Parts: sequence; structure tokens; C-alpha cells
Amino acid sequence: MKKLKFPEGFLWGTAISSYQVEGNNKNTDWWRWEQEGKIETKSGLASDYYNRFKSDHDLLQQLGCNTFRLSVEWARLQPEKDKFDQKEFKHYKEVLGDLKKRGLHVQLSLWWWVSPDWFTKKYGFHHQKASDLFANYAQKVVDELGEFVDMYQVFNEPMVPLGQGYLGKVFPPGFMNPWKFFRAAAGVAESYKKAYEIIKKKYPNVPVGMSYLYNWYESENLGFVVKIINRVSKWFRVDLIDGKIKDKLDFMAVQYYRLGRIKFDWKNIRMDSKNQIYFGIRVEDNKQNLMGWITYPDGIYKVLKEVAKERNLPIYITENGVPTDVGIDDQERIDFIKDHLKFIHQAIEEGVDVRGYNHWSLMDNFEWLYGFEPRFGLVEVDFETQKRTPRRSFYEYAKICQSNELEIEE
Ligand code: BGC
Repeated sequence: MKKLKFPEGFLWGTAISSYQVEGNNKNTDWWRWEQEGKIETKSGLASDYYNRFKSDHDLLQQLGCNTFRLSVEWARLQPEKDKFDQKEFKHYKEVLGDLKKRGLHVQLSLWWWVSPDWFTKKYGFHHQKASDLFANYAQKVVDELGEFVDMYQVFNEPMVPLGQGYLGKVFPPGFMNPWKFFRAAAGVAESYKKAYEIIKKKYPNVPVGMSYLYNWYESENLGFVVKIINRVSKWFRVDLIDGKIKDKLDFMAVQYYRLGRIKFDWKNIRMDSKNQIYFGIRVEDNKQNLMGWITYPDGIYKVLKEVAKERNLPIYITENGVPTDVGIDDQERIDFIKDHLKFIHQAIEEGVDVRGYNHWSLMDNFEWLYGFEPRFGLVEVDFETQKRTPRRSFYEYAKICQSNELEIEE
């Protein structure tokens, strides 16, 4: 056996997002989307974190990691354009205060794919007033909740919902409109910049950033267009927004899940983003995996090297995880975690400044278009009874967090 030590002060954590775990997020565009029958499964009570956060935080303590990443739901805090809900601010004060009481470093997102319904109906990020409206909300969050936050990723992976909602029609607002898409990307960047200034004004030492979906992409049967496709895909996921906010980022937040093996398929010249088909460009499925994802630990090393080369900023891996079937014995997740950490460690040894790792997710939750089937949790949730049961991976990950090292076979 060999022990791989991680740098002192390394942040070990897990992550959740408000809409995916809280339940009953009724004033949102997603809730309306579900009621209109636009997706198969409704989020409903989700993992009922809204009511169970204290006992879920007990689990966090048992896990023994030193950080936790979560989001607040804009629509709860501002259910109408001209109304903030103090009751909900009080709720989040309790949630965040409880995390601080337990000695956890808190990472917060202000927007995780979901907007208040009033915002989407009348404005949306493509609207010229969007960034002022978002800034107004951000200011209020910073004033009321800022004392509990150690680090912000203001937006979580905005390009995924913008692609799905402005080009793919499968997320709200349900457009297929490139013009609006580009305006919305600009609107998110503008909103981010304003939020950055607001946070920095009050808390100059708190790091602020934006999380990006990286993954690793390779293309087959495409000859010389391979390079172009990879470049366009990276531009879409990262550079389009990053290019507009570069000077207002204190770190890079990398989210890595899988290998995207891209193929060109003449038979599928259509747009079907749920099945990952983009006008003939298809991301290949892994039949063994519930969401068709290909596990590829080497990719996280490649991504980290690339980010380090391009940007001279500290790196936090803010999400990394794997969808599995229901069950407590999740050897697949244990292998996934260890294999990825091995590569992360290698990158650190080679000088890449990685400062933290959050596993997605603490517990099973509502996986957007895929409903409740894919299980990403270290903790299993029985969605009938809301009973929590830590999986084997929970205990394995706990050992790593608590010892700050990974034991591997030589
Ligand atoms: C998102 C999560 C999602 C996870 C798995 C991440 O990119 O931030 O909301 O559950 O991917 O699909």
C-alpha cells in the first residue's frame, strides 16, 4: 500500500444544490415547467433538505470533511419582483449558521440553473434589465447572509442551462433562439460582474468565482474537424463566459464528470439534447451507465493541466461524481473517487495548484431531466420515506477526508 498525501489545508467536501434537494421550490420557473408536463418527473419534495437540514448536517459531521458547497434559491428569497421574504432569509441563516457552528467552510452559489418564475416570464437573462435585477438580489443575499459565507461560486455552470434553455428547448425558458442565447450569455456575465463587485465591496478577502463544466472531449471518425469540434465545445462550455469575466475571478472552479466521445452521425441530423445529439454531432453512450456517461479518470488530470496552463489561478474541483443504480454497496463510486483522486494528486505533484475537492453529491437528489433514478449520493435517500442510509462510499470517502490522504495499492 502507498499513501498519497494531499497538501496541508486541502478542502475536502461534498455539494448539493437547492432545487435538487430542498423540495417544494414553488415560485420557480422549473416548478412551472414541471407542472406544465414538460419533463417526465416532478421534483416534489426532492430530498426534503429544507426540513431535514439539521440531521443532514449530522451526516456531514460524521463524514468529517472540512467544506460544504450549496446554493440558495433566488425564488424563495424573492418570490415577487418587489418582495423579499424575510422568513426565507431567516431559514437560510439557520442553515448556513448551523454549518458554521459545525466548523465547516461554506461555499455558496446564488444561482443554480433555476430562476424565479416572475423573472423568467417577464425578463430572463437575455433581457437588458437582467443584470440589475440579479444585482439587486445579490446585494440582499450578501447583506443578509454574507457573514456565513467563506467562498462564492456565484453561478453554477451557467452554460448547461443556457444551452438547454435557449437552444435545446428542454429547460425553461424553452427557446431555440441563438440570438437570445448570446444575449443571455452576456446577461449572465454582466450579472456575475455586478455580483462580484458587490461581494468584494463588503468582503474583500472572500474568494469569488464561477463554476464551469469541463469534462474531457475526444472525437472519432471526424478527421480534421476533430480539433475544431473540441475547440468549439470548450468555447461553449467555458470560454464564452470566461472571456467576459476573466479579470473578476479569484479562482477556477472545475467540474468534471466524464469523457465525451463525440461522433458524427448522418442519421441523426436533429437537435435532441436529452439524448446528446446536436445536429448530427452525437456524444456516444456508455450502455453500462444509467446516464450513458463514460468514466474517464485520466481526463481530470488532462483538464487540470490544461487549466493550469491557461490560467494562473488556484483551482478548486467543485464537482466530480458518478450516477449509479440504487443500492448501498457502491463499489463503482468508491473506485471512481479513488481513481480520480489519484490523478488529481499526480497533477498536484506536478505543480498544479489544486486546493479542494467536492464530491457530487452528499446525498441522492433530483437529477433534472432524469428525475430520481440516477443516484449520485454518498448517502442513499429512499424517496418514499426520506430515510437516509450512508453507502459504503460514504465511509471510504470519510477516511480520505479525515486523514487528508489516499491509500492506494502499489
Ligand atoms: C450540475 C448538477 C448535476 C450534476 C450531475 C452538474 O454539472 O451542477 O446540478 O446534478 O452535474 O448531472
